[in-house]
Amino acid sequence: MFSKDQYSLIDFGNGRRLERFGPLVLDRPCPGANGFQIKNRQAWQKADARFEDRRGVNRFEVSKNVSNALGFRGIWRPLTDRGELYFGVEQKRERSQDQDVDKVSGRPWTISYNNKFVLELKGSPFGHVGVFPEQAENWDRIFDLCHNGCERLQRPLRILNLFGYTGGSALAAMAAGAETTHLDATRNVVAQAKRNAALSFQSGEKDLVLAPVRWIVDDAVKFVKREIKRERFYDGVILDPPSYGHGARGEVWRLSRDLKPLLDKIMKLLSGEFCFVALSGHTPGYEAPVLERMLRIAFQENFTSTKDIKYHTKTLGIQSQNGSTLYSGDISFAYGEVKRD
Ligand SMILES: C[S@@+](CC[C@H](N)C(=O)[O-])C[C@H]1O[C@@H](n2cnc3c(N)ncnc32)[C@H](O)[C@@H]1O
Repeated sequence: MFSKDQYSLIDFGNGRRLERFGPLVLDRPCPGANGFQIKNRQAWQKADARFEDRRGVNRFEVSKNVSNALGFRGIWRPLTDRGELYFGVEQKRERSQDQDVDKVSGRPWTISYNNKFVLELKGSPFGHVGVFPEQAENWDRIFDLCHNGCERLQRPLRILNLFGYTGGSALAAMAAGAETTHLDATRNVVAQAKRNAALSFQSGEKDLVLAPVRWIVDDAVKFVKREIKRERFYDGVILDPPSYGHGARGEVWRLSRDLKPLLDKIMKLLSGEFCFVALSGHTPGYEAPVLERMLRIAFQENFTSTKDIKYHTKTLGIQSQNGSTLYSGDISFAYGEVKRD
């Protein structure tokens, strides 16, 4: 979990969420907050920036650019001096000339995860900031699985992180000593993941030791097929697939069509000794029990003995400061020992 000064969900409701990301408080849209009432009206007045559509109203146009289809196109409107520093017009103009945020603000906007690694934040035109905080719970489990796996096998685990975005899961695995391959279809996103690793190295976090990593820009399905041909095995595979997306060369990813065949291929990559697969979902119809069932079927169809595989499956939620929980997707972990023919 994040410490409260690094990340906290302050309130949510009326289709929006109010969150602290390090020094900044942000107010942004959140479909999961529809049907809930805002509880702490005063807190919303302290937001440093608000994500709005270009007309300043609460209607959002769905992006047609699929590689960026993480949210809705809009703008970050600064509301305080601090907000101005990170989202102001001057900053944006300078930033577009020189993409290096450090030179502009004098310091990167980062949050630290439990003294394990650091993530840099950037407001995207789709309302994202480069971190999905609901994944934090998964990072703890990934860290523990990798740490225990390394001890059990007496060697570094080899982990593949697919649809890896800005690298939280990869960094959790690396921080636990696992040699990690991080893949995403979007070059900028992989560059940001790389930068997160570099900032983590520089951060002087006292507990930080990161294992080696490979950064790959590719289509997840094509890469997995190639790894099978190359007979490269992994001890753990993490995947957080979107409902719909594009590979690095425009390959179409459709969860409903492509997830089952991808899981079957992933089974061929598993080394067979201690292994794990972490499958998360944010798509209606792919809630926690469905994710677990898909993993169970994939293991049963691809291994002769799966009796030692355990499952940890849950609905993800972020607890707000007033105790309500914001539903934030689902996850199923399968882990243990498997045998092939
Ligand atoms: C839901 S995000 C992953 C979030 C990430 N797990 C995190 O917590 O930061 C989905 C990612 O999948 C990537 N993507 C979409 N289609 C892809 C494909 N065919 N191959 C590889 N990556 C793809 C997108 O670029 C995006 O970064």
